[in-house]
Amino acid sequence: MTKFTRPPWPEVMGEGWQAVDNYIVDKLLGADDALAATLANNAANGLPPIDVSAAQGKMLFLLAQTAGAKNILEIGTLGGYSTIWLARALPEGGRLVTLELEAHHAGVARANLERAGVGGLVDIRVGPASDTLAAMTGETAFDFVFIDADKQNNVHYVREAIRLGRPGTTIVVDNVVREGGVLDGDSGDERIVGTRALFDMLSAEPRLDATAVQTVGAKKWDGFVLARVR
Ligand code: SAH
Ligand code: DHB
Ligand code: MG
Repeated sequence: MTKFTRPPWPEVMGEGWQAVDNYIVDKLLGADDALAATLANNAANGLPPIDVSAAQGKMLFLLAQTAGAKNILEIGTLGGYSTIWLARALPEGGRLVTLELEAHHAGVARANLERAGVGGLVDIRVGPASDTLAAMTGETAFDFVFIDADKQNNVHYVREAIRLGRPGTTIVVDNVVREGGVLDGDSGDERIVGTRALFDMLSAEPRLDATAVQTVGAKKWDGFVLARVR
């Protein structure tokens, strides 16, 4: 079986990835007070710094706009950093539902979303996403789904995204490479096990066209799945 052990690559590589991300932000994104305040408030409230990067956030924004997404679903809110990017992509009359396990995270996110001026567009639902998803019936179909919560449930979340979507719905799943950890079929890390189960599911799911793209940058070496409901 293909196996990959993370080499002890020089720290300077990570510094280079970060420096290029800084360059991209400087050239193409610029200063953003609401997002900077969100990251500061997250840290002040003890949230882990596992938000998407700025460049990734803008990519989500652009993908959602390109999809013409009016109804967006996010699984895994944390402090709402990615939520703000996605909410900014909404057209007039659009809305975003984001699912979060931890009430503390949801409270911090609520304050961040209000500060960013998108609070009125976002519905945060607190609890295990498998429960809040199960409670979702008869909702307007979601045009864009961003999955970024507990990786062991990613297969279930993608199935739910298909159920709650429509032909053409875009699905993005974060953190599917994990510094090459995805190749370790013997891993005891349930996040890796869940990610590998996701690839197995995608490879056999006729309702989706899917790929995965590796990324390096401020978030080290990782990647995302991009899929579209047929
Ligand atoms: N999307 C965010 C980061 C999310 S981090 C951003 O980029 O800014 C992952 C989040 O998923 C955490 O806040 C964690 O509490 C939440 N989470 C973990 N397990 C969950 C579950 N079963 N249901 C819903 N949310 C969950
Ligand atoms: C983890 C989760 C994330 O969503 C992320 O972007 C990075 C790390 C984690 O659970 O370790
Ligand atoms: Mg993530």
